[in-house]
Amino acid sequence: MTTTTAVDVRTFRNFIDGNWVPSRSGRTFENRNPADHDDVLGVFQDSTPDDAADAIAAAARAYESWRLVPAPRRAEVVLSAARLIAERKEEFARDMTREMGKVLEETRGDVQEAIDMTSFMAGEGRRQYGQTVPSELRDKFAMSVRQPLGVCSLITPWNFPMAIPSWKIAPALVCGNTVVLKPATLTPLSAVNFVRVLEEAGVPPGVVNLVTGSADVGMRMCTHEAVKVVSFTGSTAVGRLVNQNAAPSFKKVHLEMGGKNIVVVMEDAQIELAVEGCLWGGFGTTGQRCTAASRVVVHEKVYDAFLDAFTRGAKSLRVGNGLGDGAQVGPLVSEAQLETVMKYVDIGVQEGARLVTGGHRLDQGEFGRGWFHEPTIFADADPRMRIAQEEIFGPVVSVMRCRSLDEAISIANDVPYGLSASIYTRDINVAFRAMRDLYTGIFYVNAPTIGAEVHLPFGGTKATGNGHREAGTAALDVFSEWKSIYVDFSGRLQRAQIDTE
Ligand code: UN1
Repeated sequence: MTTTTAVDVRTFRNFIDGNWVPSRSGRTFENRNPADHDDVLGVFQDSTPDDAADAIAAAARAYESWRLVPAPRRAEVVLSAARLIAERKEEFARDMTREMGKVLEETRGDVQEAIDMTSFMAGEGRRQYGQTVPSELRDKFAMSVRQPLGVCSLITPWNFPMAIPSWKIAPALVCGNTVVLKPATLTPLSAVNFVRVLEEAGVPPGVVNLVTGSADVGMRMCTHEAVKVVSFTGSTAVGRLVNQNAAPSFKKVHLEMGGKNIVVVMEDAQIELAVEGCLWGGFGTTGQRCTAASRVVVHEKVYDAFLDAFTRGAKSLRVGNGLGDGAQVGPLVSEAQLETVMKYVDIGVQEGARLVTGGHRLDQGEFGRGWFHEPTIFADADPRMRIAQEEIFGPVVSVMRCRSLDEAISIANDVPYGLSASIYTRDINVAFRAMRDLYTGIFYVNAPTIGAEVHLPFGGTKATGNGHREAGTAALDVFSEWKSIYVDFSGRLQRAQIDTE
């Protein structure tokens, strides 16, 4: 990481125990605009594992009182944060576009998702329903309640820099936990914006802590003995490390990792609608969503018509700075991400897929200061090719051919991941079979693979996740655990399973 000496660049600090503090390291790193590397957003703390330990200690102290604040009161703080984010939506969206490149319309959506999640979870402050059930014994009361776990380590990615922190922080707080957030090094500003709002909303010192920095900070957050929950969103490779590091101390680990999502276009589909969906699902967010539609399988009867319209649509997408007028596809988030995309384009060509549009970096004129790449389509891909199997996380879509629904389903399921999938059809029987048989955590009918709403569970099967879900009330299961309580008011010993009268 580089340090800057520029005087006009703002310096941002960590937030530990209610104070904005520098890292013990004395080092910082720069945050630059991926659409224009001359634009420096700020300088952030290049923290060390000791900074993480300080934050965890603060969170552990704060937990002792926060867990006893009534849940509806905790939720009021979260609701105030929702209102403050709504007031600053435009400012936060602009910061986010400068920070990670996606177009303004989409960063507004990201901020909106944080508003939606904080509002939704604020409601959970008055729910968190348990069960009250009859006891098998006389004069005995039986119920279950949700309990917080303690300190939660939250490690978040750069592609949804405010939405995903909100998916984790809001339920964690409403359930009574305290948190340490480590955002991706590419998007610390959006995390600072979010944490400032929480501070202003009245979150007590130590309840929310923010530490910026790289992987060694995150790893301390996975191993520290005081941490009870680790919630991670990012690549499958890093998720595996998170899991391994957290396992010896039996932490609860929630992982949300890669995807290789597919759109199935059947012979009776509305082709224009499917094309529009694939353009949005494949190239929206420059393909940098874990839910991105990076594969499309099309019935042979409509393959040529679909491919022709999809190719024309991709060619007409406007690539540009996300803050500029009319840009639909922003830059890749970083040079490394652009290199990954270029590497996969080479792989696709070598594997023998047919490059029908795109395939190049854009670096002329204003593009020269950013990490732009053309929307790219490979046709006639074989389902076993690497471009059809591996997560690329960029604007590259592989189109394949199928002869039947059964074949489409087997192609769809034959990847290591299982986040999202979709089918375009007007046949209700086909739609229901696909709904049942595609093994993913999210499924769409006549809509693309992206666009999950905050009040349903979000997550995936196979190498996408480890069985947990975030968002919706499912998130409460990550950030709380059950306690079953029996109250015997008979005044005598009653033995379950033995005193059967
Ligand atoms: C992600 O890609 O990491 O469903 C999250 C969607 C968004 C969230 C995506 N609401 O595409």
